[in-house]
Amino acid sequence: MRKVRIGIVGSKFAANLHATAYSRCPQADVVAVAAPDNLHEFADEFGIPERYNSYEEMFGSASLDLVSVCSPNFLHHPIVKAAAEAGLNVVCEKPLATTVEDGADMVRTCRDKGVKLFYAEDWLFAPAILRAKQVIDEGAIGDILFIKAKETHSGSHSPFAQKVRTCGGGAMIHLGVHPAAFARWLAASEPAEVIGSTTPGLDGNLLHKNLEGEDWAVSIMTFRNGIRAVVEGNYITQGGMDDRIEVYGTKGVVRIDLTQGSPISVYSSVGYGYVLEKADSSLGWTSPAVDEYASLGYVGELSTFVKCVAEDLEPPKGVSGEDGLAALAMVIATYRSAKEGRSIDPHELWKELL
Ligand SMILES: NC(=O)c1ccc[n+]([C@@H]2O[C@H](COP(=O)([O-])OP(=O)(O)OC[C@H]3O[C@@H](n4cnc5c(N)ncnc54)[C@H](O)[C@@H]3O)[C@@H](O)[C@H]2O)c1
Repeated sequence: MRKVRIGIVGSKFAANLHATAYSRCPQADVVAVAAPDNLHEFADEFGIPERYNSYEEMFGSASLDLVSVCSPNFLHHPIVKAAAEAGLNVVCEKPLATTVEDGADMVRTCRDKGVKLFYAEDWLFAPAILRAKQVIDEGAIGDILFIKAKETHSGSHSPFAQKVRTCGGGAMIHLGVHPAAFARWLAASEPAEVIGSTTPGLDGNLLHKNLEGEDWAVSIMTFRNGIRAVVEGNYITQGGMDDRIEVYGTKGVVRIDLTQGSPISVYSSVGYGYVLEKADSSLGWTSPAVDEYASLGYVGELSTFVKCVAEDLEPPKGVSGEDGLAALAMVIATYRSAKEGRSIDPHELWKELL
């Protein structure tokens, strides 16, 4: 079996998710990492031999089949472009970019250079979501009428998420982009109309007065096939990351608790180590996550992308560069709608750009 040689850009939170997921994929070989900080600590932890201070240096020197972009959002655009220009296939973390113009430029460049662009939407590989989709596809709830989905927690660990310039917005672009991409994938249709409401950032936020972007956002969507959706992202949720989905059909309902539902319950009067992403207390009753690398989809996601590179396959439905661009447009449409007080067709934002 030919191993796929991988270079990771970044060395912290998302880079850790990628390196761990690749370590569980027999066909993946992470041979290089590029980052301006935490380089040797990260490389030592995962036994990565080649280390570079910049991605330009890595793309110029390392022999790679695939690059994982785990840098802050505003750097996705230059890094993906540089990878494509070096003839390398790329996995880009969410959101695809901070603007639809940058996102479209990334998709175009990868297409022109003949490289594959994978959009790292891990939700679409989460075992609970795949199982629910199977049940829905069997007809268990009839035709889908309404999708309600959210990702929420108490605030990002990343300093880059605090600034609009480096993040592209607040909770909707950083968290809500997951349920947005999910709703579009499940509805199997393009959104025709988005109505958004967000807090305005800084002093106008509900809780995070130093955060430039919004700390609360909701988007009401109507897809071209008539399916309705409500997508939410917020940073005002205590008690650990809370990712929930409800799907209402003509014959039933499906509910998914992606993060808080665990087969383990612990009561502790003294506390213990890790409970789940963004949980700040392990006292009293808690439900520790069993394996978030698998349950949130990273393992399935990155092994699928590695297989696509090894076997020269296109990205599966929902995780191509175009899909990432469509999800980003849903977020940007939410912002524009909240600002202008009118509904927006997200497709209008990018249809001329590709
Ligand atoms: N899919 C998910 O669930 C998920 C989870 C967390 C983060 N992310 C995404 O991953 C990306 C990184 O987020 P994070 O949480 O790791 O942020 P972080 O603040 O923990 O890390 C930022 C990373 O960017 C790297 N970096 C900064 N400047 C760079 C440069 N010039 N060149 C190369 N690398 C540079 C740093 O080395 C560091 O590894 C973001 O786009 C974020 O949205 C996705």
